[in-house]
Amino acid sequence: MTPRIPIARPEMGEPEWRAIREVIESGWVTQGPRVEAFETAVAEYCGAEHAVAVSSCTTALHLSLIVAGIGPGDEVIVPSMSFIATANAVVHAGAEPVFAEVEPDTFNLDLADVRARITPRTKAIVLVHQLGLPADIAGFAALAEEHALTIVEDAACAIGSSYRSRRIGSHGELVCFSFHPRKLVTTGDGGMVLTSSKEHADRLRLLRQHGMSVNDRVRSSSTAVIRESYLEVAYNYRLTDIQAAMGIEQLRRLPAMVQRRQELAAMYDERLAGHAVVKTPVVSDTVSWNVQTYSVRLPGWSAEERDAVMQHMLDAGVASRAGVMTAHREPAYADFDVKLPLSEQASDSSLVMPLYTGMDESDVDECVAALLSAVEHVCSGR
Ligand SMILES: Cc1ncc(COP(=O)(O)O)c(C=O)c1O
Repeated sequence: MTPRIPIARPEMGEPEWRAIREVIESGWVTQGPRVEAFETAVAEYCGAEHAVAVSSCTTALHLSLIVAGIGPGDEVIVPSMSFIATANAVVHAGAEPVFAEVEPDTFNLDLADVRARITPRTKAIVLVHQLGLPADIAGFAALAEEHALTIVEDAACAIGSSYRSRRIGSHGELVCFSFHPRKLVTTGDGGMVLTSSKEHADRLRLLRQHGMSVNDRVRSSSTAVIRESYLEVAYNYRLTDIQAAMGIEQLRRLPAMVQRRQELAAMYDERLAGHAVVKTPVVSDTVSWNVQTYSVRLPGWSAEERDAVMQHMLDAGVASRAGVMTAHREPAYADFDVKLPLSEQASDSSLVMPLYTGMDESDVDECVAALLSAVEHVCSGR
């Protein structure tokens, strides 16, 4: 039986339907005017100079690394405790991921550990804003400057979050968003790179569309025959106008979604405050968090104990998910001989609670009751 309270529920409806219908009726469904409008809207919302839509955050990260000049022989420091796409993008670019530890309470990269892993081959850091919670952008910018490194922000989950009163997307040279349905703004699948550099934006536009010298829209609306050329070996990483039309409507919902998610997180925080076992997210006062995912920690607990808590919750009709994965323990990275005890503990002992804008206070109460009863049950058998 599906749980009464699911883990997430994307918010979408009539406005998205209408926008998609209009695209279909217009006859132009691939990358076109809606993609441009979506890019402009996201850039304006985030306070970024340029925005380039692509097919996912994975492809956004891949192209960002390429435009930053990262390739074979280079090392790129990434957190292992992240969705595996963070590390995969480095491999796609031909470079080598170097896994670093995260802070156990924020799940964001640990600055001192990253510093210790810098070698003469290090060219970049992928700074993940894990679960939408902004990482220490200023600290990492200073480190990057000291060692002439590029920072690519993996902001897959962070649209609508802010760092030092400015939205994520406005700080960095290359910032990548995801529009997968588990994110606040969804286009089914999709991504975007926000950049402060026109040069990067121009090359990103080229790379996402086969390296083609003219874009389809310019060619289609030209009164003179245009023959394109292909300037470099590139990719098809386009977003479609159907997806972009949905994204524009989703973006309109974003401020209210962030506010509601913050209210729900505050309800969880309040009910779990001071608990002897369950620890709530740690959010510094320099950031505003979009609460893309609300994850609680059970410090010192094993993955098996955490899984038992999840099973007990599921039996009570409440879904949950295991904490963020670690890439270095997956078969895909079996060749990487690295021990990251802090990341492994953080991943094994955390779990994600249900959170979506349609929840009400009684749903939060039910989730908290299920969590605490499950924790008590597992504690009694320890
Ligand atoms: C931190 C992080 N990076 C990258 C990705 C990949 O995003 P996408 O599915 O849009 O490629 C995700 C997706 O969950 C993520 O959480």
